[in-house]
Amino acid sequence: MDAREMKIKAAAEALTHVEDGMRLGIGTGSTAEEFVRLLAERVAGGLKVEGVPTSERTARLCLELGVQLRSLDELPELDLTIDGADEIDAQLRLIKGGGGALLREKIVASASSRMIVIADETKIVDTLGAFPLPIEINPFGQVSTQIAIEALASRLGLSGALTLRKRSDDSLYMTDGGHLILDASFGRIPDADALAEQLNAIPGVVEHGLFINLASLAIIAGPAGARVMEP
Ligand code: A5P
Repeated sequence: MDAREMKIKAAAEALTHVEDGMRLGIGTGSTAEEFVRLLAERVAGGLKVEGVPTSERTARLCLELGVQLRSLDELPELDLTIDGADEIDAQLRLIKGGGGALLREKIVASASSRMIVIADETKIVDTLGAFPLPIEINPFGQVSTQIAIEALASRLGLSGALTLRKRSDDSLYMTDGGHLILDASFGRIPDADALAEQLNAIPGVVEHGLFINLASLAIIAGPAGARVMEP
């Protein structure tokens, strides 16, 4: 099974949790996109769901494939969100935001009764942090915010570069919300809970990619098939 087949396997398994009439949060990234494709086939076959997308990119794909969308303000409470992740630990703490959609992803997941993470097994880690942690910051005072994050990291014994995310043409990467992203290459984050809480206390930090106590289930696909992880 190649990487794409594993993503499709996890997405197909997640689809078995989707019921008629559900209000669905729809994630962002290549794995979530496989889910959208499978969901669209079921919708074409008569399944009725309403989706809230976590990014403009996901919204475009849903519209193209005929998945009915609503805004989160129209559907402020969701039954289920299905989304990918960049890293997953045994407690189902996640790093997300590799695709830049972390803020909307976290708002949508928080508004959902359940969040199912779908991924291939390469995303499972013992300790979060090998994948650079995306930190979404307000452009105003970005240097001061970076200094505050560096000071926090140092207090927590973390080291590693903070890199302002850029696009391939070298222009600054802007999120759907008009913010910047710093990718923090900490390597290992021994106390993800403390880092998450303290990042939230820095005024210029809009959101960070540590998703803690949000995922209720993970569907992890490997060459032998899909397995389920619970926190
Ligand atoms: C998007 O911002 C991310 O949180 C994605 O969910 C994450 O990067 C996983 O993406 P892939 O499924 O493409 O690996």
